[in-house]
Amino acid sequence: MGDRPLIYAGLFLFVALVTLPVWQGIAAQSSTVGPELKAPAHKKQCVAPRAYMREAHMELLMAWRDGKVRKHERHYTAADGTVYNVSLTGTCLTQCHGSKEKFCDRCHEYAGVSAPNCWGCHTSPPAEPGGVAAVAAGGMR
Ligand code: HEC
Ligand code: HEC
Repeated sequence: MGDRPLIYAGLFLFVALVTLPVWQGIAAQSSTVGPELKAPAHKKQCVAPRAYMREAHMELLMAWRDGKVRKHERHYTAADGTVYNVSLTGTCLTQCHGSKEKFCDRCHEYAGVSAPNCWGCHTSPPAEPGGVAAVAAGGMR
C-alpha cells in the first residue's frame, strides 16, 4: 500500500521520458516548416503565380533558356501582361530574389535537392544585393 505513490511517480516519469521527443517536437514547432522566403518588398507577384513557381520553376527556367537561346525570345509576357527580360541572373536574382545562396540554395538544402548546376556559368549577385537591401531599408524609414 505504502508503495503506491512511488509506483505512480515512477510510471509518470517513465511516460514523460518515453514521450519526450514528442514534447520537444511540439515545443520546437519549426521542424516541419520550410525556410521563410522573403518576397521582394517592391513586387507583389513573381513572373507566374506562387503555386506554379513552387512546382514548376525549373521547367519555366528551362523554357526561358530554350526560348532565348534557340528562338531568340528575349522577353516573357506574364499572365497579367507584365513583360520581363528573360534572364536568370538579371531578372530573377538581381531584380527580385537577391543572391542564389539566400534564395535558391536555402530552399534546395531544406528540401534535400542537390544544387542545380547553373552557377558554373551563370552568376549570382553578392549575398547582400544593394537593390533589395536598399528597398528594404527604404521601407523602414
Ligand atoms: C555550361 C554553361 C551553362 C550552364 C551550366 C547553364 N547555363 Fe543557362 N545559359 C548558358 C548560356 C551560354 C546561355 C545564353 C546566354 C544568352 O543568350 O544571353 C544561357 C541562357 C540561359 C537562360 C536564358 C538567358 C539568361 O541569361 O538567363 C536561362 C533562363 C538559363 N540559361 C537558365 C539556366 C539554368 C536554370 C541552369 C541550371 C539548371 C543553367 N542555365 C545552366 C550557359 C549555361
Ligand atoms: C521554395 C523552394 C525553392 C526555391 C526558392 C527554389 N527552388 Fe529550385 N527546386 C525546389 C525543389 C523542391 C526542387 C525539386 C523538384 C523535383 O525534384 O520535383 C527544385 C528543383 C530545381 C531544379 C531542377 C534540379 C534537378 O536536378 O532536376 C532547378 C534547375 C532549380 N530548382 C532551379 C532553381 C533556381 C535557379 C532557384 C533560384 C532562382 C530555385 N530553384 C529556387 C525548390 C525550390
